[in-house]
Amino acid sequence: MTPVVAVLASGRGTNLQALLDDEVVAAALAVVVSDRADAGALDRAGARGVEALLHDPAGFSSREEHDVALVEVLRGLGVEVVCLAGYMRILTTAFVRAFWPRIVNVHPSLLPAFPGAHAVRDALAWGVRVTGCTVHLVDEQVDHGPIVAQEAVDVRPGDSVESLHERIKAVEHRLLPACVRLFCEGRLVVEGRCVRVTG
Ligand code: GRF
Repeated sequence: MTPVVAVLASGRGTNLQALLDDEVVAAALAVVVSDRADAGALDRAGARGVEALLHDPAGFSSREEHDVALVEVLRGLGVEVVCLAGYMRILTTAFVRAFWPRIVNVHPSLLPAFPGAHAVRDALAWGVRVTGCTVHLVDEQVDHGPIVAQEAVDVRPGDSVESLHERIKAVEHRLLPACVRLFCEGRLVVEGRCVRVTG
C-alpha cells in the first residue's frame, strides 16, 4: 500500500509544485504544512485541493514542544513519509525519531559540501566549478543523513546566487519527485550511510 506523505515547506514552494505535478506522489500527498503564513507552498497546496496547514512556531514555547505537536498532527492524518521541500526549521530529535528513516530533504549543493541555509552563496564564494543538489534522508544532524540521489550543476562565469540557484532548482524539480516516488513504491533500502534502490 502506498504510504501517506506530508510535505513541510516554508517558501515559494516550487519543489512542492513539482511534487504536486507527479501523479504518484500527488495521490499519496495528504497535507502540506508550513511554519509561515505567507508561504507560497500553502497556496499551491490549496489550489490542488490538498490540505494546507499553518503550524505557527509562535504558538509554542520551545522547538521541542512545537515538533511534538507537529508529530501528533501528522500522525493523526496517518502520515508515514515526510518530505522537506524548502522547510527552513531544523527538526528536533523527537521529530526525527518519530519518522526515521522516512524523512527526505532536498538541499541545493552536493553534500557534504556546503551544508546550511546559504549553500548556493557559499559554493559561489568558494569558487567551485561544479555544485548541484542532493536528496537525502534526514537524521539528527543538519544536512547530514544518507544520500538518496545527487546531480551536478556547472557553475557558469558571471553566475549570481539567483541564476545558479535557478538552474539547481530545475534539477531539484526532477530529482525530488523521483526520490519521493521511490519511497511511495517502497523501493528504498537504507544500509548504514548507503541507500539502495531496489527493483
Ligand atoms: C530549494 O532550493 C531547496 O533545495 C532548499 O530550499 C529551496 C526551496 O525552494 N532546501 P522552493 O520553496 O521549493 O521554491
